[in-house]
Amino acid sequence: MSVMEYTQEMLDSVKKVEATRKSRLSFTPERMTAEEKTEVLNRFHPDHREDEFVILGVGPNKGQKVPKELGHLLQSNSRLLESRIDLSKIDFDTDVLIIGAGGAGASAAIEAHRAGARVIIATKLRIGDANTMMAEGGIQAADKPNDSPIQHYLDAFGGGHFAARPELLRRLVMEAPDAIKWLNELGCLFDKYENGDMVTTHGGGTSRKRMHACKDYSGAEIMRTIRDEVINCQIPVLEYTSAVELIKDDKGQVAGAVLLNMETHDYLIAKAKTVIIATGGAGRLHYQGFPTSNHYGATADGLVLGYRVGVPLLYPETLQYHPTGAIYPSQIRGALVTEKVRSLGAQLVNAEGEAFMNPLETRDVAASAIIRECNERHLGIATPDGVGVWLDSPMIEEIHGEGTIEKRIPGMMKMYMNYGIDMRKVPICVYPTLHYQNGGLEINGEGFTKTIPNLLVAGEAVGGIHGKNRLMGNSLLDVIVFGRNAGKAAAEKAKEVEIGELTIQHVKDYAKELYKADIDTHDVSPVLLPKYARHVRPTDKYLV
Ligand code: FUM
Repeated sequence: MSVMEYTQEMLDSVKKVEATRKSRLSFTPERMTAEEKTEVLNRFHPDHREDEFVILGVGPNKGQKVPKELGHLLQSNSRLLESRIDLSKIDFDTDVLIIGAGGAGASAAIEAHRAGARVIIATKLRIGDANTMMAEGGIQAADKPNDSPIQHYLDAFGGGHFAARPELLRRLVMEAPDAIKWLNELGCLFDKYENGDMVTTHGGGTSRKRMHACKDYSGAEIMRTIRDEVINCQIPVLEYTSAVELIKDDKGQVAGAVLLNMETHDYLIAKAKTVIIATGGAGRLHYQGFPTSNHYGATADGLVLGYRVGVPLLYPETLQYHPTGAIYPSQIRGALVTEKVRSLGAQLVNAEGEAFMNPLETRDVAASAIIRECNERHLGIATPDGVGVWLDSPMIEEIHGEGTIEKRIPGMMKMYMNYGIDMRKVPICVYPTLHYQNGGLEINGEGFTKTIPNLLVAGEAVGGIHGKNRLMGNSLLDVIVFGRNAGKAAAEKAKEVEIGELTIQHVKDYAKELYKADIDTHDVSPVLLPKYARHVRPTDKYLV
């Protein structure tokens, strides 16, 4: 039965939620004022917990704060310090080397290949093992008559606290309609009406319904589409092969990467005229002990690689905690409960059955308000796995009719049904989960890093596209827009690049900097796998 898994205390609270549901159906709490938002963010958002950050002592962001866990990785050793690497023995030679095979890496590969470049993708897991695959709710694009890219820009700029780099955000919104068209033509199965028009909904902070979706597995469907195209194009993909360091040349360019075969632990040398870092996010570093909605491989590898060759980070101190991670049952703790549940009308409700906030506040505000409800107002719901708030999912069927949950968010329904919870009948319990790194490596509008002329970055490893908070659906969009652009730009750039003599001197120089800054570390980075990886991580000790 649907409610078997809830404790008596939870069931008592469910009764209160049911008692207020009818009146709440015609009442949505007002959005907060700017002052109220500032207050709740300052007091409750995890980005404002000063003791969770460190000041970097080396590198281009020296003197700036980053999350403790990231700071540790940025100030760890390269595993190559103690290794004998023969840079004269080239295993792969290519025009464009792409590190990472999620949405950004795959999109880049397709466009670079179409532009005539020789392309290789290296990925530490398999193609498509990435946060793109995990994305649920949708992808934004202003492609309907009542909308415009300008409106999209204003929503995203405000939602990101006016901190987005204008040249990046401009590209994101202007190229969004074409990204949808590109995916659609590749065969992505977007939700459509019978007349062929795309179904679009709101997300938190959007002023127009511009969220295109493939039910609630939008990322999986998008990744399937572009992965198939990579395969169709016969682009070589080195799976279970991670990049552990970038290689430079004697002219200061990047010249490829040292790769690690994750199974044999052999090093391989990939020489390339241009390199695209598309390594994704960092959720598996579990900042501040948060669970995460992220893919297993999300360990900030690209930030470490880029930082060590001198690329600055933008906004590394800003993380996104998705307001609605599953808090109960424990098997799905931290898993994403898509914002689409709220887009479809489900309210956030406390233990007393009160809707305590507008369900479509931006994510940072919504997460902070949930933390306040639980930690300060003590109106959260105690579950055996932690305190959370209700997401009143049965409202969806009341608003849109029976069958809506199964039709529009079948993945969510199945996830909960696996544990005997029927979200059509009972609310589900949620709490913020670590979801996205707003910050990352700094690029210009073309995708090139500002410090190294033939090094590009795309996807979640980029900082500045969204500012200090990202709206739902703009990440699936950025992996496509910036992935495609990076692929085209890298292919073009490769035509003029001549690689000099290969070197990893920068690795030794970085170690000297650490020494001078009195930073004594025995750990190595990038870590490649989360610390609870079952087999010994190839990072746990130097590999000689
Ligand atoms: O809630 C979601 O479906 C997440 C979407 C996103 O991060 O863009």
